[in-house]
Amino acid sequence: DNHKRKKKVLLMGKSGSGKSSMRAIIFSNYVAKDVRRLGATIDVEHSHARFMGSLTLNLWDCGGQDAFMDSYLSTQRSSVFTDVSALIYVFDIESRDPTTDLETYNNIIRALKSQSPTALIFCLIHKMDLVQNEHRERIYDERCAAIVKKSEGMDLETFASSIWDQTLYKAWAGIVHRMIPNLVVIERFLLAFAKQIYAEEIVLFERSTFLTVTHVSVIRDSNESSETQTGDVRPEYTTLPAPDRHERISSIMKSYKHTCTRHSRTSASAAGAFVLFKAQTPSFNSFLARFTENTYICVVIPPGEAAFNCAVL
Ligand code: GTP
Ligand code: MG
Repeated sequence: DNHKRKKKVLLMGKSGSGKSSMRAIIFSNYVAKDVRRLGATIDVEHSHARFMGSLTLNLWDCGGQDAFMDSYLSTQRSSVFTDVSALIYVFDIESRDPTTDLETYNNIIRALKSQSPTALIFCLIHKMDLVQNEHRERIYDERCAAIVKKSEGMDLETFASSIWDQTLYKAWAGIVHRMIPNLVVIERFLLAFAKQIYAEEIVLFERSTFLTVTHVSVIRDSNESSETQTGDVRPEYTTLPAPDRHERISSIMKSYKHTCTRHSRTSASAAGAFVLFKAQTPSFNSFLARFTENTYICVVIPPGEAAFNCAVL
C-alpha cells in the first residue's frame, strides 16, 4: 500500500470543525481570513492534490453534518471506507459536545478498521487558537488521551493545529511526510548533497503547497572548517534555531505567494526567479531557491562568501 502513487485520504470530523478551511489553505492558496466564505460541505467533495510528481492525494472532504455521517456509516460504508490510505480526523477543541464527538470518531474508526486495517490515522485537535496559551498543552494532552482510548488499538498520530498560525503547516507536513514514496532515497541524496556543499541544514519544500517534505542536518566538526581562507570566525550560537522554523517558512512563503498572485507583476518576476531569498549574517548564511520541478530548497551554511556562492551555484 505504501508504494501506491494514488492515495485515498479521508478528511472527516464534525461539521464546522474546519476541514474544508484547511484544505483551502493548504491546497488552494486561501488565506485564513478568507475561509469564512466557505459553506458547509454537502456529502463528499473530491479533489486531487499532486505532490512531488510521484504522489497523488485523492482527498475525500466528507461533510460532517449528522445526516452525512450516518450515511457514511451505513449506505455509503463500503464506498467510503475501502482502499483508504489515510484518515485525517479533525476535532474542534471548542466543541460543545466532546463526548458525542468521540463516539462518532469511534464509529468511524471501527468502520475503517474493518475495511482498511492498514490505513494511517491522523487526528488534529483543531482551532487551538481559541484556547488560552497557558492551557494549550494540558488541554491538548487530555484530549489526545481521550482520543487514544477510542481508537480501537489502532496506531495514530496527533497534532495541535490552527489556521491562524504555522501549526497547520506542521500538521500537514507531518501527514504528507508519512505518505511520500521513496523518501529514504530523497533523504540519502539530500544528505550527500549537504555534505558536498558544506551545508548545515537543507530543508526541502513541495512547490505548490510549500509544505516541508523532509530535511537533513549535518553536525560539523569545528576542526574541519570549510572556510580557512576568509578569516571568518564563527561566533557561538547565542540562541538555538527555533524548533518551528520549517513550518514558519512554509507559512511565510504561502503568504508571499498569495501576495504575488494578487499583484501579477510581482508574480511574473517571482515565478522566473531562481533564488527567492538570501540572508548573509555573521553566524550563518542561508538561501531559498527553486530546486527541482516540484520542490524548493532552503540551505543553511556557515559564514563565508566562497562556500555560499558555490552552494547557490
Ligand atoms: P462541514 O463541511 O460542515 O463538515 O464543516 P468543515 O469541517 O468543512 O468546516 P469549515 O472548514 O467550513 O469551517 C467552519 C468554520 O471554522 C469557518 O468559519 C472557519 O473560519 C472556522 N475555522 C476553521 N479553522 C479554524 C481555526 O483554526 N481556528 C478558528 N478560530 N476558526 C477556524
Ligand atoms: Mg467542509
